[in-house]
Formats: sequence, C-alpha cells, structure tokens
Amino acid sequence: MSVAIQKLLDGIPVIPVLALNNVDSAPALANALIDGGLPALEITLRTPQAMDVIAAIKEACPKAIVGAGTVNTPEQAELCAKAGVDFMVSPGLFRPLLDVARDTKIPYLPGVATASEVLMAINEGLTACKFFPAQQAGGIAMLKALAGPYGEMIFCPTGGINADNFRDFLALDNVFCVGGSWTAPGDLISNNAWGEITDRAKFCLS
Ligand code: 3PG
Repeated sequence: MSVAIQKLLDGIPVIPVLALNNVDSAPALANALIDGGLPALEITLRTPQAMDVIAAIKEACPKAIVGAGTVNTPEQAELCAKAGVDFMVSPGLFRPLLDVARDTKIPYLPGVATASEVLMAINEGLTACKFFPAQQAGGIAMLKALAGPYGEMIFCPTGGINADNFRDFLALDNVFCVGGSWTAPGDLISNNAWGEITDRAKFCLS
C-alpha cells in the first residue's frame, strides 16, 4: 500500500489540499495547478460537493492525479473507490480504512501524529504516512525525533505548511512530499485567480 502511494507521488513535492464547493470551477482550478506543475490534488470530503468535484475533475482533466482527502469512514472509502479516485488520504489511522484501501488496491496515505501511531502503522506494514497536523504536532523537531526509532517510515506532513516553511520540511530525509492549502486558498479559488494559483504551484518547484 505504501509503495503504491510513493510510486504515484514520486517527484511531486507538494500536494494541494482543497475543500471545494463549486463543481463548475473545479476543472479550471485543477488545470491551474497542473499548469503550474502540481498534478496530484487532494480533494477533501469536507464539502457536500466533494464527490461531484472529484467526478468533474476526473472527467475534464485527464492529467490530474485525483485524490480524496479527509476519508474518515469505510463507507466514504468505498464511495471513493467507486468514483475511481487515484489515491486516498485520512487524517488518522483506522484499521477498517486500511482494509478498504487494501481490498480496493487504492494507494493510501493514513495520518499519524505520535510515536504510538507510527508504531501501529509499521505493524500494519506501512512505510509512508501523512503527518498531521504537522506544525501543531511538533513540526520539524518532531519529524527529526521520529527518524530515530522509525528510520524506515517516511512522511507527508500537512497542517500549517506554507510558502515560508515547506522547503524546510522537504529538506528532511524522512519527508517525501508535503501537503497544504496555501497553494490554492479559498479566497483565490472564489475569485477564480487561476494565474496566481499557477504561480504558487510553480514556486513550489522553483
Ligand atoms: C489537511 O487536511 O491536510 C489540512 O487541513 C491542511 O492544512 P492547512 O490548511 O494548514 O494547509
């Protein structure tokens, strides 16, 4: 499972985390990020429109790698599987969600925030996890500390990552990508500021 998500996200340093309620503008947003070089999008299931947004982007943007985020229940994971999402992300670790990911073979990134949760993840056979909420759970110092006992685990930190600190996270040996909403925040999305969003994506790769 972890190998699949690492392969899928290989070479993609930043995953925009998106909470979208406008289905019509979702493909334009996806294209703005893809044009800027960030094709992997985490569409969080935090809005009633999220599944429709996922379908619209999958239909209109063949280059998008469409992930579902905030997958909190096995039922949601099953819906995501039916929608053909390319990957799933959860804020935490929950065995029934791992089971759906394993059964459906969808690349999956569950979240951890403590040493005990990393221990559980390792014992589930995982080698890559989301680290959430990254800043609030100890940030760079915590990731460095986890590298001691858990050298084999790599992380995608999200939560409090921004243009000023993302490179510091990416510089850590146990960080393979980061995620966050700063690349496409709500105000830019509601203003259809696609050029600015493309510029923010490009900055992530510069
Ligand atoms: C997530 O689910 O990864 C976070 O909500 C993103 O956090 P951010 O808005 O602080 O980037």
